[in-house]
Amino acid sequence: MILKNKVALITGGATGIGRSTAVLLSQKGAKLVIADVSDEGNNTAEEICNSGGEAVFVKGDVSIVSDVTNIVSVVANTYGRLDILHNNAGVLRISDDVSTTNELDWDLTINVNLKGVFLVSKYSIPLLKNNGGGAIVNTASMAGWSVGMAGLAAYCASKAGVVGLTKCMSIELAKYNIRVNCICPGTIDTSLYTTQFLHAGGTQQELDDDQKSLSSLIPQGRYGTPEEIAKAVLYLCSSESSYVNGQALVVDGGFSNQ
Ligand SMILES: NC(=O)c1ccc[n+]([C@@H]2O[C@H](COP(=O)([O-])OP(=O)(O)OC[C@H]3O[C@@H](n4cnc5c(N)ncnc54)[C@H](O)[C@@H]3O)[C@@H](O)[C@H]2O)c1
Repeated sequence: MILKNKVALITGGATGIGRSTAVLLSQKGAKLVIADVSDEGNNTAEEICNSGGEAVFVKGDVSIVSDVTNIVSVVANTYGRLDILHNNAGVLRISDDVSTTNELDWDLTINVNLKGVFLVSKYSIPLLKNNGGGAIVNTASMAGWSVGMAGLAAYCASKAGVVGLTKCMSIELAKYNIRVNCICPGTIDTSLYTTQFLHAGGTQQELDDDQKSLSSLIPQGRYGTPEEIAKAVLYLCSSESSYVNGQALVVDGGFSNQ
């Protein structure tokens, strides 16, 4: 129970990586606030409570200031403290190349993936400072950091921004005993990409072929699981990484070493 009595706020905790991380942090003793635009966040909170943990769900959009201040006030009013912030909410949009990238998709991606990390951090940091410290873990990506990816210009730009923001915050906040790191997942088996692929007109067969050929390019030969990313987040937000600060931890089955 390495996180016993710790309070963690996870954005984008309704599904995928955020959901798995919420469940794992709860198993390690943390009390959770799960924030998400999707009502499915209720299911994550319910699952944790049914397993004997503590969790509340708050609906909110990380790119809207009034939603963010509400999310942070739910943390303060429910638990009176914050020890761990996992900025994980994210979106992905696909285009052929930069010239065909829709401006609305660009704005949405930057607003959620980058501005959202800024806003939730901005309004959460006073709570972390009040405690005498804590840890922030941002979800970046190998896309935009260790590799570029065609068709994902806005996404790569947003995630490269998250890495830069992480490094800056790690220097600014060290004197408050707040460590700031990010994880850079490779290709993880969630619906983030698949939903958009099908939405963009791709067929299920094309998606299956795409996933098969991408898997063959990964040295470990498969996609990662959300649970494997959750374990990396646990390391970065726990005392096991007490001298790790400002790092971008790539968890990609070796993909970006090629
Ligand atoms: N799946 C991958 O291959 C992969 C790889 C690298 C990085 N990531 C990143 O991991 C994070 C989680 O993605 P995932 O793969 O678990 O996908 P996912 O779609 O399952 O999870 C994303 C979550 O963010 C929520 N969300 C979206 N917009 C939001 C907003 N404006 N405010 C609050 N919540 C919002 C969604 O409702 C969803 O619950 C994202 O930041 C994503 O960019 C994923």
